Amino acid sequence: MRLPNYQEARKRDIREYKTVKFELDSKLKEKYKGKKFYLKTYGCQMNEHDSENIKALLTSIGFQEIDNYEKADLVLLNTCSIRENAHNKAFGMLGRLKHLKEQRKDLIVGICGCMAQEESVVEEILKDYKFVNFVFGTHNLEQLPNILDKAIEENNQQIEVLSREEDLVEGLPVIRANSYKAYVNIIYGCNKFCTYCIVPYTRGRERSRKKEDILKEVEELVRDGYKEVTLLGQNVNAYGKDLYEDYNLANLLEDIAKMNIPRIRFTTSHPWDFTDNMIEVIAKYKNIMPSVHLPVQSGSSKVLKLMGRRYTKESYLELFDKIKNTIPNVSISTDIIVGFPGEEKEDFEETLSLVEYCKYDNAFTFIFSKREGTPACKLKDEVSIEEKEERLQRLNEIVNKYFLENNKKLEGTTLSVLVEGISNKKNMYYGYSETNKLVNFTSIKELELGSIVNVKITSSKTWSLDGELDG
Ligand code: SAH
Ligand code: SF4
Ligand code: F3S
Repeated sequence: MRLPNYQEARKRDIREYKTVKFELDSKLKEKYKGKKFYLKTYGCQMNEHDSENIKALLTSIGFQEIDNYEKADLVLLNTCSIRENAHNKAFGMLGRLKHLKEQRKDLIVGICGCMAQEESVVEEILKDYKFVNFVFGTHNLEQLPNILDKAIEENNQQIEVLSREEDLVEGLPVIRANSYKAYVNIIYGCNKFCTYCIVPYTRGRERSRKKEDILKEVEELVRDGYKEVTLLGQNVNAYGKDLYEDYNLANLLEDIAKMNIPRIRFTTSHPWDFTDNMIEVIAKYKNIMPSVHLPVQSGSSKVLKLMGRRYTKESYLELFDKIKNTIPNVSISTDIIVGFPGEEKEDFEETLSLVEYCKYDNAFTFIFSKREGTPACKLKDEVSIEEKEERLQRLNEIVNKYFLENNKKLEGTTLSVLVEGISNKKNMYYGYSETNKLVNFTSIKELELGSIVNVKITSSKTWSLDGELDG
């Protein structure tokens, strides 16, 4: 049994790491043929992509995926810690599984992902969720087949969580959720330690994948007919810093742009190390999508300081303007937290005025959620929950107003759309534009899913655009 330890997870020292190649224990291959698994994924794209590896690992030992947890032999929850409601959802599901297990003693239940890295969560599982068969964390995902096998063979609870990152594992199998769009990890972990955020504790320090490994993966995706790659990291702008003196995200983007892939996206960019070079590269290549997610969190420099974000309102706006003025037709989206401890009315008003200035194309807005073990958890928080909810609502009204306003401007224009499917409700095709807007559209001819077509926009809504095939 290995339990997570926050003292360890908090350490900021950068460790040496090796790249090692994954190999499946040959004894386990197909061992569980005929068994079925149900996997539930919470959280961000990184977790979604981890789940693509998890599905492939389970498949390699014989499991088959089903979408009804009540009929599964194995239920695995890939969890998220970012806010309290993510926690609550996973614990709610655990409650349902407890009932199910009372009827079906042979059901196997596993927990992985960010919550597994939390000391208090694992303590709770040990105390109140004894029926959980196994737990593993974000740093040893590749050990899933062995941990699961051990839990079944020994018929006892296996808890195997590493508190710190270890070697970087290449060559994990993957079953991708989409056949045109693929996620590609470029950097793991986060060194920023924003004071509200749990990610540095659950995902460890920054480790970049070697550029050769990334380029090879993209090359294979191109060969397999993928149309879009999204480069993933908690802070992709830090790519390469831990590995190379003179190779960074701008270089990587440029190398990928020269490959034959129609669409390249990347997320998330921390404003602090967004370089001019990156902006130039994005502007230069047509296949790097003009769409930047640039989380601001707050429009008050005082609150930004308390959040440990390393930029001020002024320096953020300077970067924002530079991106807007250099990349033609760029769309910028953001994340905003309201009700951070110490956020006074005036601070919140500054966030609203920043939003009025930036007129974001999309924004994810949240009420601050206390995460155990983070510095912000100890800050005095005097604003009532009612007040925070009211602030969130006011903010949402303004961001929504600009989503609609920006979309209105696109009426009558023609956008390039990657066709993803046909929506059952509307009987229309749907897909995303280069700037990541959802487009529903009609077409008199049948379209191939995964193709990129021109769509004339005929009307707009807050969250989507409607149109018809152009030509
Ligand atoms: N690495 C990304 C963010 C990942 S988390 C970045 O730095 O941009 C996604 C978003 O969740 C954050 O941008 C933040 O807005 C929100 N978030 C993170 N911790 C939170 C907390 N404790 N309470 C509320 N929102 C939080
Ligand atoms: Fe969290 Fe900040 Fe790291 Fe983003 S940059 S993952 S908000 S600590
Ligand atoms: Fe959640 Fe972990 Fe992602 S906390 S947002 S799943 S990195």
